[in-house]
Amino acid sequence: MMSWAKQKLADVAGTREPIYGPEAIQSVAKQTETAPYTELTRKDFTWSHLNTTCVETEVFYLMSEGGQIAFVQVIYSNVAGLRTTSQFNCKIYYPKSANKPSLWSSDQLANVDFSDDENSFYADNLAVELSEDGNTYTIKSLTNQASVVNLSVTRTAPAFHVGKDGNSTFGTDPNAPWGTMRHAFWPRATSSGTITTADGAIDFEGKACFIHCLQGMKPHHAAAKWKFCNFQSENYSAIAMEFITPPSYGSTTVTVGGITKGNEIVWAGTNCTTTWSKVKDDAEVGWQPPEAVKFEWNGKTKDGKNVTGLIDGPLDEHYDRVDIMAEVPGFIKQIVAGAAGTKPYIYQYPKTTISLKVKIGEEEVVEEGILYAEATFISE
Ligand SMILES: *[C@@H]1O[C@H](CO)[C@@H](O)[C@H](O)[C@H]1NC(C)=O
Ligand SMILES: *[C@@H]1O[C@H](CO)[C@@H](O)[C@H](O)[C@H]1NC(C)=O
Ligand SMILES: *[C@@H]1O[C@H](CO)[C@@H](O)[C@H](O)[C@H]1NC(C)=O
Ligand SMILES: *[C@@H]1O[C@H](CO)[C@@H](O)[C@H](O)[C@H]1NC(C)=O
Ligand SMILES: *[C@@H]1O[C@H](CO)[C@@H](O)[C@H](O)[C@H]1NC(C)=O
Ligand SMILES: *[C@@H]1O[C@H](CO)[C@@H](O)[C@H](O)[C@H]1NC(C)=O
Repeated sequence: MMSWAKQKLADVAGTREPIYGPEAIQSVAKQTETAPYTELTRKDFTWSHLNTTCVETEVFYLMSEGGQIAFVQVIYSNVAGLRTTSQFNCKIYYPKSANKPSLWSSDQLANVDFSDDENSFYADNLAVELSEDGNTYTIKSLTNQASVVNLSVTRTAPAFHVGKDGNSTFGTDPNAPWGTMRHAFWPRATSSGTITTADGAIDFEGKACFIHCLQGMKPHHAAAKWKFCNFQSENYSAIAMEFITPPSYGSTTVTVGGITKGNEIVWAGTNCTTTWSKVKDDAEVGWQPPEAVKFEWNGKTKDGKNVTGLIDGPLDEHYDRVDIMAEVPGFIKQIVAGAAGTKPYIYQYPKTTISLKVKIGEEEVVEEGILYAEATFISE
């Protein structure tokens, strides 16, 4: 059978894909030889809402001055071009001193609509709007009484994607890819507003980061594992997002990320590594989540100075394990239905106090900040 036909079958029947080999993914890393990264404007943050299989997300990660960590997330998904589903998720982690379990709300959305310019997302009881100047999102949600969201997130450093167009593409013919993966970042932003729970309004004045991600294919075909680092300190942010493909695409690793200082991007590109430097067995589900991490960034500033960044140390022992099939109902089940060997779990480490060592040219700084990290396991 032709590769594309096998792929179509896998797509419709939900089966595992055959082995195409590493040539069947064109990593965005290739583009970084000519353009390490591209600064983005408002039009680069439109919703694609493809009419073919896809999962598209917008996630706002929040670190409040009061010590709460949260993310709010819109997920748009399309199964085989036949059925679209959207979900709004909100998760709040309380400071340790509060001694309270995290709060998770996940709701399917109805009457989804996009603004004419495709920058804003609407559904019953939900609006996620990008301002005219492209610098502020407002997120208002009444989708769940347990967590009523009224937030605004304003970019304070440039937005970027890696390479020229930000895409890694999948397919045996690079000129006619059957899948894509793209992340667009606001690496550094401020947040304000509230999330109101049964205990009252939580003030989310603080630091934020925002990521728009488009997976233009079945997510478990694109990635078997994910690693995510969101470090924010007073003067720096350091982001890394990595996925490792399933064996069908040669278990290929693609890592994108960047470092900001103040309101500037110091460096962004694909020359970063994310390592689980110590893991433990989670016998209950059979994965090995991390206990310690090592994230490294390596590149050059626009004016040619060497840049290195390093985060190396143990993770806070508190984490949440999210059983994606059980806790994100609806859409993912439809997408992953029938796929053998898929066992998706996310381990979320909401708050590790850790240092970033960053060297720009001859200047080396070590600064303490907060790390939000995720380890996602989907299949072997
Ligand atoms: C899907 O979208 C593409 C590109 O926007 C368009 O050319 C095509 O007609 C659409 N197909 C359907 C079935 O809507
Ligand atoms: C939402 O936040 C804005 C800005 O902080 C405020 O003006 C508005 O009254 C809030 N809306 C609700 C329903 O709380
Ligand atoms: C790559 O990304 C751009 C947006 O950055 C998008 O418009 C384009 O269609 C993508 N290319 C492919 C081959 O999917
Ligand atoms: C951030 O930079 C300022 C100016 O260099 C410095 O005074 C401050 O201590 C830095 N913050 C941290 C957390 O190191
Ligand atoms: C990528 O990082 C490695 C160290 O991890 C470094 O030796 C190499 O020069 C870097 N490459 C580029 C293109 O910056
Ligand atoms: C920058 O790093 C490269 C290796 O990645 C090294 O060869 C070069 O000497 C460094 N330049 C300076 C000015 O330190």
